[in-house]
Amino acid sequence: MMRVLHVVGARPNFMKVSPIMREMAKYPQKFNQILVHTGQHYDDEMSQVFFDELDLPRPDVYLGVGSGSHAEQTAKVMLAFEPVLLEQKPDIVLVVGDVNSTLACALVCSKLGVKVAHVEAGLRSFDRTMPEEINRVLTDQIADLLFTTERSANENLLREGVAQDKIYFVGNVMIDSLLRNKERALALDILNRYDLKPRAFALLTLHRPSNVDVPDVLAGIIDALEEIQSRLPIIFPAHPRTMRRIQEFGLEGKIARMSNLRVIKPLGYLEFLNLMANARLVLTDSGGIQEETTILGIPCLTLRDNTERPVTILQGTNTLVGTDPGRIVAEAFNVLSGRAKVGRMPELWDGHASERIVGILKELA
Ligand code: UD1
Repeated sequence: MMRVLHVVGARPNFMKVSPIMREMAKYPQKFNQILVHTGQHYDDEMSQVFFDELDLPRPDVYLGVGSGSHAEQTAKVMLAFEPVLLEQKPDIVLVVGDVNSTLACALVCSKLGVKVAHVEAGLRSFDRTMPEEINRVLTDQIADLLFTTERSANENLLREGVAQDKIYFVGNVMIDSLLRNKERALALDILNRYDLKPRAFALLTLHRPSNVDVPDVLAGIIDALEEIQSRLPIIFPAHPRTMRRIQEFGLEGKIARMSNLRVIKPLGYLEFLNLMANARLVLTDSGGIQEETTILGIPCLTLRDNTERPVTILQGTNTLVGTDPGRIVAEAFNVLSGRAKVGRMPELWDGHASERIVGILKELA
C-alpha cells in the first residue's frame, strides 16, 4: 500500500490533480490518498468551483496561506506544510505545475527525506524573471520522479543533469481533464448569457506580472484590445490581480468606454472551456491555455515573448505575439482574415496521461 499525498494550491493545479486522483481511486488496495490544499488561491471562483466541477474530494488538510509576496507566500506554505508532512507520513508527495505551492511543498519534502513526484516537469521558458521558471527549475532538481508532457521537457531535464531513469514522458494530465469534460462543458448555455455567437468573439485572459504589473505594458495591451474589439467582441474573465492593477493605473475609464469589450469575473472550469471551444481566437498570457487551445483547435495568440510549452507552437495552434500593440492587432486581424494556424494533437495528449502516471506508481507501490 502506497500512501500518496497530493498538493494543490492555485487555480491551474486543480484540473491536473483531478484525473490523477480519480485514476488512483480505482486501486484502493494499492493507494491511500490524501489531498492537501495550501490555500494559495482562496476565492470561490479561483478555487471552490473547480472542486465542485471536477469532482475533487474535499481536501483532508487546508493550510489557508492566502496571498503575499513570493517569499512570504512560499515561506508560509513551507511552515504550514512541514507539520502536516510529519503527521501524515506519506510514502510520496505529488506536486503539479509551477506555482509557489509546488516548489514550497517539494522543498519541505526534500528536507525531510520524503519522495517527490513532479507532474509537468521539465518545461522551460529560459526566462528567469518569471517566478514560475524558478519554481520549475528548483522543483525538478529536488524531485525523485519527473513526469513530462512533451519531449522538449525530457531534453531540458537531461541537460540540467537529471538522471534519465527518473524521467517519464507520459503526456498531459490537463488534457485528460479537458477531454473528459468537453461534452459537459459544451452542453452549458453560456454563450446566450453573454450574448455571444459561436466563432464570433475573442476570449481574453491576462494575469502575468510582467504584463499587468507594468503600467506601460498593460496600457499598450489595452490599446491593442481597443482596436481588436472594433472588429470582434472580446470577453475578458479577469483575474483579481489584473482588476486591481487596472484600477491602480487608472485604466478603468478607458476599458469602460470600449463597447465591445466585456469584463467579467473569473469563470469556472466548464464555462471557460465552453468559451474557449467556441471562440474565434483566444488571447492569453496563461501557460495552460496555450495547451488547451491546441487540443481544441482554436487559434491562440500568446501575449508573451517566450513559452515553456514549445510543442504548442511547433505542432499546435499557438503563436507568440509579445506585447507590442501593433503586432498583437496585426496577428489578431490575420486570424480574422482566415489565416489561422491549423494544429495537430501533440504526442500522448490523448486523455490517458493519468493512467500512465498511475501505472508507473503502481509498479513502485
Ligand atoms: C498564480 C501562479 C501562476 C498561475 C496563476 C493562475 C505563482 C508564482 N503564480 O499567480 O503561475 O498562472 O496563479 O491564476 O504561484 N488573489 C485573489 N484571490 C485568490 C487568489 C489571488 O484575490 O483566490 C489576488 C491577490 O490579490 C493576490 C493576487 O491575486 O495577491 C495574486 O495571487 P498569487 O497566488 O500570488 O499569484 P497569481 O498571480 O494568481
